[in-house]
Order: sequence, then C-alpha cells, then structure tokens
Amino acid sequence: MIRVIVDGSTQDAVAGEHLINVINRTGSVIPQVCYHPQLGPIETCDTCMVEVEGKLVRACASTVWDGMSVTTYSAAVIAAQRDAFDRILSNHLLYCTVCDNNNGNCTVHNTTKLLAVEHQSIPFRTKPYKEDQTNPFYRYDPDQCILCGRCVEACQNLQVNETLSINWEDPHPRVLWDGGSTIGESSCVSCGHCVTVCPCNALMEKSMLGHTGFFTALPKPVLDGMIDVVKGIEPETGYGVILQLSEAEEAMRDRRVRRTKTVCTYCGVGCSFDIWTKNRHILKVEPSEGPANGVSTCVKGKFGWDFVNSSERLTKPLIRDGERFREASWEEALDLIAHKFSEIKVQSGPDSLAFISSSKCTNEESYLMQKLARAVIGTNNIDNCSRYCQAPATVGLFRTVGYGGDSGSISDIEKASLVVIIGSNTAESHPVLATRVKRAHKLHGQKLIVSDLRKHEMARRADIFLHPHPRTDFVWLSAISHYLLDNGLANSGFLNQWVNGLKEYRKSLEPFTLDAASQICGLPVETIKNVAHMIAEAESVCILWAMGVTQHTNGSDTSTAISNLLLVTGNYMRPGTGAYPLRGHNNVQGASDHGSMPNNLPGYQSTDDPEVRARFEAGWKIKLPSTTGLDNHQMVDAIHKGKLKALYLIGEEMSIVDSNANYVGDAFSKLDFFVVQDIFFSFTCRFADVVLPGSPSLEKEGTFTSTERRIQRLYQVFEPLGESRPDWRIIQDIANRLGANWDYLHPSEIYREIASLTPMFAGVNYERLEGYKSLQWPVAPDGTDQPLHYTEKFYFPDGKARLYPMSSTEPPEQPDVEFDLHLNNGRLLEHFHEGNLTYRVEGIREKTPDTFVEVSPELAEERGIKSGTWVELASRYGRVRVRALVTDRVQGRELYMPMNSTESPVNMLTSSYTDPATNTPAYKDAVVRMRVLTEIGESPLPRGNHRFGHPTPQRGVEVERKWQRPDYRLPGLRLIQIQPK
Ligand code: SF4
Ligand code: SF4
Ligand code: SF4
Ligand code: FES
Repeated sequence: MIRVIVDGSTQDAVAGEHLINVINRTGSVIPQVCYHPQLGPIETCDTCMVEVEGKLVRACASTVWDGMSVTTYSAAVIAAQRDAFDRILSNHLLYCTVCDNNNGNCTVHNTTKLLAVEHQSIPFRTKPYKEDQTNPFYRYDPDQCILCGRCVEACQNLQVNETLSINWEDPHPRVLWDGGSTIGESSCVSCGHCVTVCPCNALMEKSMLGHTGFFTALPKPVLDGMIDVVKGIEPETGYGVILQLSEAEEAMRDRRVRRTKTVCTYCGVGCSFDIWTKNRHILKVEPSEGPANGVSTCVKGKFGWDFVNSSERLTKPLIRDGERFREASWEEALDLIAHKFSEIKVQSGPDSLAFISSSKCTNEESYLMQKLARAVIGTNNIDNCSRYCQAPATVGLFRTVGYGGDSGSISDIEKASLVVIIGSNTAESHPVLATRVKRAHKLHGQKLIVSDLRKHEMARRADIFLHPHPRTDFVWLSAISHYLLDNGLANSGFLNQWVNGLKEYRKSLEPFTLDAASQICGLPVETIKNVAHMIAEAESVCILWAMGVTQHTNGSDTSTAISNLLLVTGNYMRPGTGAYPLRGHNNVQGASDHGSMPNNLPGYQSTDDPEVRARFEAGWKIKLPSTTGLDNHQMVDAIHKGKLKALYLIGEEMSIVDSNANYVGDAFSKLDFFVVQDIFFSFTCRFADVVLPGSPSLEKEGTFTSTERRIQRLYQVFEPLGESRPDWRIIQDIANRLGANWDYLHPSEIYREIASLTPMFAGVNYERLEGYKSLQWPVAPDGTDQPLHYTEKFYFPDGKARLYPMSSTEPPEQPDVEFDLHLNNGRLLEHFHEGNLTYRVEGIREKTPDTFVEVSPELAEERGIKSGTWVELASRYGRVRVRALVTDRVQGRELYMPMNSTESPVNMLTSSYTDPATNTPAYKDAVVRMRVLTEIGESPLPRGNHRFGHPTPQRGVEVERKWQRPDYRLPGLRLIQIQPK
C-alpha cells in the first residue's frame, strides 16, 4: 500500500494502480467519458485531465506512486477538461428530453452537467453517414457517436470478436464493422458488449427505441421539430435549463421503468444482469457488476428473451382427450395427477413412478422435486439432465480429487499461464467464459492448446491445435502423463506430498507410449511431446472440457485422465490451476447439487449412508426409501420393460435431446401416465397425459448455481403469464394433494431447509445472496465460501488426492462400409440446445433459421455437395433430412450437426450406448451414411450470419492514430504522460 495526496487529502492506494480509480475513491468527481473500469484506460476523450506536480496528465492512464500529489480542481484542470469535452460535444447532438438514453446514466448528459456547460464553443457537425439499422438487435447512429472508442475496446479486447475499429485517418472518423461493412453483414455476433459500454445513445438496443421516454415514440418529423426547438432556445437559455427539463422527464421515467436483477437462463457461465422493463416489454438487458460476467453477455443473455412473452406460451393446464388435448382448470389437472400417482403407487409400488427435474429450474425447485420423489412417493427414481453431459466429469473428479465441480473460478482460468481446452467449442457453448481466455491469450501472454475434431474459433486461436481421431483424448492424455513421469518432468514434490496411488497408476500407463498414442490418435509424436513440455513447463495450467469428452463411452475415464494429468503436474491447490468441466445448462450444476440424482441426496450425500438418511428422515419426518433409484437412461429401459408406469418430467425436451430419440419416444408412448411441465408445448408434450404450464426464470424467485459453483439469486421480473405458475409452487401443489402438507411461502424458506440438512450449503441464505452477492460452495455456517478448492487439502479423509488407474476401451461403433462417416454434434452460439427458447427470438431466427450438417470441402467435392444441398443422413437408429454447409471447420469424413432442431433432431441418429460408469449416452460416438438428395436449397445460413464476416483484429482502439491526426491537439497547455515507476 502507498499513499497519494488528492486535493490535500491522503488516500491509500496500491502501487501501480490507475490514478483515476484512486480519485474516484476519494469522492472527488472528475469527468471521465471514455474510461470504464472493466475496459481500462482508452485515452480517447482527454476529459479526465488533472494536475500532478504542476503538470496536466490523463488520470485514467497515469499510475500512482507513493507520495504523489494530485489536484483535480484548478483553473488549468477545468480549462483542459472543458476544452476536451467541447470537442466531444461537437460530435453529439444534445436532445436529451426526446432521447431514449436519458435514464440518469448517460455519460454525455451527466458530464455536460458536471462541467456546467452552457454553450458549446465548437458547434455540432453532422457526419456524412446514415444510421445503420441492419442488425436485428441494435443500431448505430454515427451522428451521435462521440468516438470514445469504448465499443471498439470492448469488441477487440474484452469480447475479442475483433469486429470494430475506428478509421482515425478519415476526415470524418466513425466506428466501422469489419472495416466498413454494414453491421448486418459483418462478423458481429450480437453479444452486445459494445452497446452496453457505449456512454451515450450512439449504439442502442432497438428494444429501447421509442419505448423508454415519454416523447420518444413521436413520429420522426415531430421529433426533429422538437430537437430544432431545443437547438433554437439553447443560445438564449444555455444548456442548464434544457438539462433541467430533461431531468424532470427522466424522473418521470423512473416510475414506469423497472430494473430487476436476474441470472441468465441459458448456459452455465452464470451471467447476471439487470433487466429493464416497462410493463411486460423488455427494454434492455444491462450487465454491469455480475461476479461472473461484469459487462459481458452473449447474444442469448443480452437479446434472447422474446420467448417469455411469446403467444405460444402455455398458460393453462392441458389434459389428454384421445388424440387431442383440452384446457383444464388447475384443480382438475392436479386432482388427476394426485389420483393417478396414488393409484399407480398402490397398484405397482413407489418404484413404478419416476421424476426428472429440470436444469433450467431453480435449486429450490430441484430440491422439491427430489423431495417429492423420495419423501412423498417413496422412490429414489429421480434424475436430471446432467446425466446427458456432465456426470462423467463429476465421476472423474470424485475419483481423483473428491469434489464434483470446477476446482476454481473463471478468474483462475483467466490467470492461468496455459489453458488446455478439450472437446469444448467454448466460444459458442460458454461464450462469456471464452472471452476471458481469448482476452488473456491476446493481451496477457496466456498460451492455449485445443484438442477437438473441429477447427472452431478457439482451435483457430490456439498455439497448438490437436485434431485426434474421435474418442482418443484419453490416450494422448495418458501418454503425456506417462512421458512426464518417465522423463523426470512430473511434479514429484507435489506427488509425494499430496497424491496417493502413484505406483498402480504408473503401471496402468505402461501401454501408453508416445508411439502408441501417435498411432491410435493420429497425432505426430513430436506434437504430443510439445504439448507435454508446454504443460510441464507452464507455471499454472487449467484444463477445460465439455461434451466432446464426456459424451463418449469412455467419458468418465477421459475426465479422470485429465485430472490425473493435473495431479502429475501439480496443477491443483493454486490460483490459476485446476480442472474445469464446463456445465452446459444454467443450472445443471445446481440440479445435481440439490439432490435430483438417484444415488445422492442434496450435497452429494449418499442415499446409502445411514447417518445421512437418518438426518433427512428426522428433518422431513418420513421414512426414506432404501431401494436403488433409476437414472434417466435406466428409466427409459424400465418403461420398455413395463416396470416403470408413470413419469413426471419438468422442463426437459427429453424425447429429442436424449440419445436414440426414436427409442425414447417409443418408451414415452408406453407410459400409463405421463406428466410434462414446461413453458411451451414441446415435442415431448405430445406423449403426455397432462401438461402443466410452468414459469420461466423471469417469472419467479430462486437461485441458480453456475459452472464455477456460484450460487446466485434471481428476482421476479414479471407476474406469471396467464395461469402459469412457478414450478416450485406446482410441485408443492402436487405434494400437498398427495398429503405432504408443505407450506413454503417463498423459495427462501426452501433454501433455509436445504441449508439445515446439507453441510455443503450450511452457510447459504438469501441475505448473503442479496442483489449481486454470490457464494461458491461449499459454504461454511459463517458464510465463508470457497472460490478455489483444495487450497489446504483434497476432499478425501486423509486430505490426499488419488491417481486413478485405467485402461483403454473400444468404441461401440466405428465407420464401416455401410455407415462410413463419423457424426459429431453439439451446440451453436445463437441457439440453445434444441432451440425451444431461441427459435422464439425473432432476431436469432433471422440470423440462424435452421440446423445444418457441416461437410468438409474434400467430402463435398467427392460427393458433389454444395452449401444448401439437401442430404439424408441415416444411422442404424433413424434418419434425418438436412441441408449441407460446406466448411473447413470439419475435415475428411467427419460431419458435424448442431443440435438445434426439433424437425431434424440429430438424436434420431445417435445410439443407446453409454459410458458404463454414468450411463451418459455416447452421443459423440455416432456413425452414419449420407445420401445426396436431388433438391438444391438455399444455404442454411443466410448471408447475415456472422460466420460470413471478416473480422479486423487490432490491439484495441489504437488511440495513437488519433493523436497523429494533424487536427489533434492536447487540451490544456502541458501534458506529460506519467509512466509507471
Ligand atoms: S461482436 Fe458485435 S455486438 Fe459484440 S461487441 Fe463486437 S460489434 Fe458489438
Ligand atoms: S458508438 Fe462507440 S465510439 Fe461511438 S460513442 Fe458509442 S462507444 Fe463511443
Ligand atoms: S448464455 Fe451463457 S454466456 Fe451467454 S449471457 Fe447467458 S450465461 Fe452468459
Ligand atoms: S477518461 Fe481519460 S482519456 Fe478519457
């Protein structure tokens, strides 16, 4: 710590921090138009001038030293700040009263007031460009753009999509997309970073325009007239009076615009933000201080909310009536469910019923669902969709280090010196998390190794891209551990102190020589060796993986091999290290954490442990079932065998997202009684007997747990639509009809009960999660949480980790004469999973209307396929028709299909093979044949899709180019940049 004197008062500071942050802590207010703490100094606006030891400096770019003396309020400072801001106003027309951005947070408005600007010395000059309206979600108005460059910095260096730049050398600089394209045809991924950080109305969400202000919906000629009136009176009245008027109008807006904090309902990154609403209209999503994301979002979190107000929402219970459904009252639907559940339980026993919770629902809802199964029905037949993706990763970590979650936080991934990504298309599946890796790689020297079948964005950016044969990551990972141990490159100090089982593990590695790995994986020996050395020599390593690892029959073993390698190299127990299985759905972590699993009560407490069972029995005042529960894969088999008669499924499109969809659909049609709870009439609802209308996240309260084990609160934005109800209420209604007598009035009461029964969540309560506060489990009773696991010991009784020996297994199916192509599948940035939510977002549908199959250029040439050619893919289990997209993201005879389709779902083609340790379907072990159909269609991706754009990477806004303009001059007289000492 050092001391800095600001306007005569002493302020504590950290050596090397930016002066502007120190000044901001003192309460002194200085203008700072281009500065944003999450972007760092951009230095384009010059409004933050202060005096340091008699010289004018930019406070945002200066770093502090001990004893530094700063003046923020002198004649020279004020003159320089005013001079700089005058130049900004020459690029911006002040019409705040009729501006949709006049909501108290407009930096240009607030700085005009702060500097008490009455008249502009440099008049406003219009720019020779039109507004760009070509993106469905936001628009750019060059005439309002003050050229601060925040958007460019955010796009280049935070999101790292590298779409934006400013043509500083042009007589009329402006922000450019792909160096001069329209927004709609650029590489812009509509993540919204630029719009979020824009300090004025130059970039705005279209959903704000005409909706936010009282006068902003007026027809353009009327608005223009009003703007002319304002301009007309300004010379006489000055801006002071005009600003007062606009502030009065802004205060009126406050009464009708609500800002509610929520947590994203899409992926497991756990972005949180405020949603601005006017009645049921979503004005905008404003990320700012989310612990996982700050100002970041992807297109889904920022713009993907139309589905909430879709006219297709379920708003009443439906009951099957022959081949159709009829609307019913809640009383009738709930009575029928209670009657049928009771009847089936009496006739066939409690284990003839099963329950599947949703990874889109809250923790409290998953807890109640498993409590309904266990405490009310008396069965352990309860599961959630982590079975389809993450269970193998959890097993791999349970085997080796003891906790089934990410070892650290996203901030650890950011600070690692080497990140290894295996089987994860992170930039599309976990977009905001990927931005942290892209930024560290671009700006901070982080190294990146990617192993994948596809050359996706992260693979293109990687220092080393491995393309092993499908399903062989286990082999090269084990070979590297072998090589490191044999060549004295393992971390022997760490192994000696913290790890058991080295001897058996080494023995199991014997077959995994570099030569064998090279042959099996199809990778050169030298490449594997390079990767081994990079991992061994890196100061800190994080390994990230996802469904490209877990959805194979060796998913648990490959996950274990990853953790073994981290142990061999000592990459646990320190910041910037560890294992990061990336959770897919927003609350897939929480659904398992809170007990929606057949073998675990909440907090991974085993159903077989008598002490655990006794605690829950005392808490719930019931006798718990002792039979082994079925997971969701076993449930499908049990239905086929006639053992399972009834199923209650919440919020899962299981009939097309489970593997071998035809087999699953056949099973559902055999059920005696099937209840589906969802927000839309999904494909799976077609098999139901009763359909119940649940509520999406914006219509309820509760908590979600993200991939980094972060528990966050969501607050209710809207009332439930129509007669739909929050899912926790529906589960309680059903339980009470079955005699449970639950009386939870609010999800906080449910969490109080969870915390009382689950040591892992002992210190979690709603007060500690207020607003943007969050906790990363495990949470001690005093509220201490654990952002980084294993800082003192591993989670085993002796505190030591365990190396886990394994051997290779054979793939269930491989390409052969009949089925000659390997089919891979996965997510797509714009759509989430099968697309039931995102297809209802008009802008996303416009950009990405359909699914497709990616075909390599060489295979396309061999078969005469072009982008748009219709093909039929057939496997042993089913067939789909789909259009081809020819791309070098895939190679040779490997195909890739995004999973976002209910018409041509990829799971018509996948098998029922599973990972034996978890029953996770081997979605990625699929083989197919392809028949070219005669019809030629349009390309499945329209020209406006970002994949056709041409990014323009550069290192931020490149302000030096602005400073080199002949018309640029420093504000004030003497400016010296102060360099860090
Ligand atoms: S990708 Fe598009 S929306 Fe995201 S910051 Fe860049 S220009 Fe803005
Ligand atoms: S569009 Fe970009 S450069 Fe223009 S005012 Fe907004 S953030 Fe600044
Ligand atoms: S989908 Fe994931 S990355 Fe995108 S905003 Fe939501 S939580 Fe963040
Ligand atoms: S805030 Fe320092 S130059 Fe803009």
